[in-house]
Amino acid sequence: MSRDGDNASGTGRRRDLMASLRAGHEAARQRKPAPPPGAPVKAAPTVTSFDFSKLPAFRQLTMHRAAADMIGLDNPFFQPHDGVAGATTVIDGVRHDNFASYNYLGLNGHPEVNAAALEAVRTYGTSASASRVVAGERPIHRMLETRLAELHGVEDAVVMVSGHATNVTTIGHLLSPNDLIVTDALVHNSISEGARLSHAARMNFPHGDLDALERLLGEQRHKFDRVLIAAEGIYSMDGDFPDLPRLMRIKQMYDAWLLIDEAHSIGVMGATGRGIAEHFGTDPTGVEMWMGTLSKTFSSCGGYIAGSKALCDYLRATAPGFVFSVGLSPPLAAAARASLDVMAREPERLQRLAENGRRFLERASEAGLDTGPSAGLSVIPVIVGDSIGAVSLCNRLLKRGINALPIVFPAVAEKSARIRFFITSEHTNAQIDRAVDATAEELAAIRTTNTRFSDLVRNGKPE
Ligand SMILES: Cc1ncc(COP(=O)(O)O)c(C=O)c1O
Repeated sequence: MSRDGDNASGTGRRRDLMASLRAGHEAARQRKPAPPPGAPVKAAPTVTSFDFSKLPAFRQLTMHRAAADMIGLDNPFFQPHDGVAGATTVIDGVRHDNFASYNYLGLNGHPEVNAAALEAVRTYGTSASASRVVAGERPIHRMLETRLAELHGVEDAVVMVSGHATNVTTIGHLLSPNDLIVTDALVHNSISEGARLSHAARMNFPHGDLDALERLLGEQRHKFDRVLIAAEGIYSMDGDFPDLPRLMRIKQMYDAWLLIDEAHSIGVMGATGRGIAEHFGTDPTGVEMWMGTLSKTFSSCGGYIAGSKALCDYLRATAPGFVFSVGLSPPLAAAARASLDVMAREPERLQRLAENGRRFLERASEAGLDTGPSAGLSVIPVIVGDSIGAVSLCNRLLKRGINALPIVFPAVAEKSARIRFFITSEHTNAQIDRAVDATAEELAAIRTTNTRFSDLVRNGKPE
């Protein structure tokens, strides 16, 4: 456009501006003056909020609940427990054998852990009251991070307020649209959400199939800047674990980063609870990111990344879920630290957990139960094969004083709906034997009363 043209359009814009200012002044002159103080105010039109029950997904949820009611299934979810849930738990005033808690080493409710939390409350109150970056840093945070780094055998660790948020913010922050995230098909939702947030490409390899992972990287690696491989120390649904040394060789060969989520393996695997690296005797510094939660063995709440000092410093300075979120509540940090102390002092807890897991797995196999690929450590599923059957089995076990929760579609494929048993060091042999026997008996009863979903829909409520 010519200079003249510029000038001409500039003049036109000024004219428009003057006209709109004049129109504004005119409108202001015509506006009614504000009512004097105390004058009655006319009622504003009613403001209504959106009715979320109209959401199609909510309607579907309601239909599922109604269908379950129709066929006589009790809702196994959101059952309140009274007191500490460990090898036993109190539901509706009745003590049950409990196979539904992450309390793998029986440390939740341990007097030393409780005392540490209480002491932290006395010193710091219940909240850090700010992001650690600004005014929320407390000495207990770094004490815990140092202990976690020592446990994993790496330089540093950074703790965040939730395990889920740790994966989301770390993966979401470190990876970008030109990158690739390759995940085992069964990784936890928090890893998937982190991948989504990062806008990196995401590809799955079939669960545990490292040949497929190698093929995938061979075909895809050159198309991306950075590549992250994410796997779990013990898979939360199947209870098995990957071949870590091979995973590490693969990530080296394809110049990728490796994240191992140790939510269910730290404080479970290895003679002293250092997780899957201790189990295999591998050098933990060869893995870029060890992720863990404080909500399982460490009887607290929160999550962490352990790795190099540079990685942890970078996350502390820039990860949105750390920088823009409150510091971990001091009593929770103290409880996790005390749990680490007890675990270090009493490795026999890990031995008992391993023995209990082995016993459960052996007894289940003798009883003809399908425990999938579980290694028999913290997590042992019993595959039922359909969601209704899994909920029905859970209801029946509860009536026999055993609490173990179903995992149903869409958390797992419909054909692998299951009851998931969490094992703790505190279970007795009698509890384990009772649970396996009851599961085998009730599953057989369900199968003979033909309670598969399709039959229930066809025939209605079972006898
Ligand atoms: C494998 C895995 N990663 C992350 C999380 C999230 O941890 P949290 O429940 O402590 O937020 C879980 C939760 O169970 C999990 O199983």
